[in-house]
Amino acid sequence: MVPTQKVFIKNFGCQMNEYDSERMLESLALSGYIETSTADNADLVILNTCHIRERATEKIYSEIGRLKPNKAENPNLTIAVAGCVAQAEGEEIIRRQPMVDLVFGPQAYHRLSDMIAASRQSPQVELDFNQDEKFSVLPAQRNNKRVSAYLTVQEGCDKFCTFCVVPYTRGKEFSRSVQEIYDEAKNLVQAGSREVILLGQNVNAYHGQGNGNSSWSLANLIWKLSDIPQLERIRFVTSHPNDMSEELNVAFRDCPKLMPYLHLPIQSGSDRILKLMNRKHTANEYLDVIKNVRSYRPDIAISGDFIVGFPSENEEDFQQTMDVVHKVQFVKSFSFKYSQRPGTPAANMKQVSKEIQEKRLAKLQSLLFEQQKLALSDSIGKVSKVLFEKKGRYPGQLVGKNEHFQVVHAMAKDELIGDISTVCYTAASSNSLEGSLVV
Ligand code: 5AD
Ligand code: SF4
Repeated sequence: MVPTQKVFIKNFGCQMNEYDSERMLESLALSGYIETSTADNADLVILNTCHIRERATEKIYSEIGRLKPNKAENPNLTIAVAGCVAQAEGEEIIRRQPMVDLVFGPQAYHRLSDMIAASRQSPQVELDFNQDEKFSVLPAQRNNKRVSAYLTVQEGCDKFCTFCVVPYTRGKEFSRSVQEIYDEAKNLVQAGSREVILLGQNVNAYHGQGNGNSSWSLANLIWKLSDIPQLERIRFVTSHPNDMSEELNVAFRDCPKLMPYLHLPIQSGSDRILKLMNRKHTANEYLDVIKNVRSYRPDIAISGDFIVGFPSENEEDFQQTMDVVHKVQFVKSFSFKYSQRPGTPAANMKQVSKEIQEKRLAKLQSLLFEQQKLALSDSIGKVSKVLFEKKGRYPGQLVGKNEHFQVVHAMAKDELIGDISTVCYTAASSNSLEGSLVV
């Protein structure tokens, strides 16, 4: 179809939102839309929102406000709010910002074209939670051109950590079928991808339909995907410590395409706080999971998520978080101040002051940053395999990732994009490695 309309998607939040935005673009292409990089010449603007932390809702209202001149100039402009803020706020968005035409949650975007058409008559709000319908209706063909592509295999969460909105905005745990994921991975590879990153809020709890009515684990799925020729690398995020299995550890050891990188949030090192968070594991149980996976794959890179200043957290609790960090040696980490999420149990607990949160976050981040730098500088003089993804900032430079998911820059010809090359590391900055090709 010849494109006649332009769509601008602004993405907020996690990798799953990025995946959703890509799939929206692919399905809109079938209705004659082409992507544009600015709202200024767009016929359709989609804000794909995230609700996980901070003043997400207010941020979105000011984003919408910024589109006022665009709407004034082009009254036919359709403004849509998608994602988790849309799911949480619903009709309230249109009540507060009547220039919004369309509000839809993460499980409804496969009906986008119909919703756009209907919004020409009256504003539309679609917050349906039918998770299995979305994936069977979306176009099977992927036209993603990324060397490293996201692939959602599991959505939603039944864990109900007391700080987290995901179980409310993304719904209950749902796993896609093995066949559907396999076909999508093959499609991505045909379009040029060489790595897939399997996505799920609780990805290692994956239990999708395999052969007949059997339920397959994430490890089984990974082994199956590793059959696909030209699919060189497989990764998965985000895992929960209680769902790490022996089978996955074995896959880390024995499946050459499964990369040695595990993102395993702990959130806090204090058992008292972990209990209040409803994490259902202790700090030592987390450490045992790490010890176990390292016994199968000694070089595995571990990354984590942390929340500081969770309600009632005291200095001793915080010190226990620092102790865990010292014990694990994280390669990369994501750390946040606790943020009250409306409707979650922790929002009603005794809050910690912003000043204390900020002090603790600075302390934790400085330690995590040291560990990240150490992991990078440790590689200098060593050699490993890099999958080049795209051109770098400087002429003649490419950017890619090594097995441990570290960013690598090297001077290399463009033809090497999509190839795996051996690189010797010569220098490390705070976030990435510099290296030269070994020929
Ligand atoms: N406040 C701060 N951080 C949060 N996260 C999730 N909910 C909150 C919250 N209310 C963090 C957790 C999670 C990551 C995706 O976001 O660390 O693992
Ligand atoms: Fe949220 Fe993860 Fe806890 Fe699920 S396991 S409730 S997604 S933090």
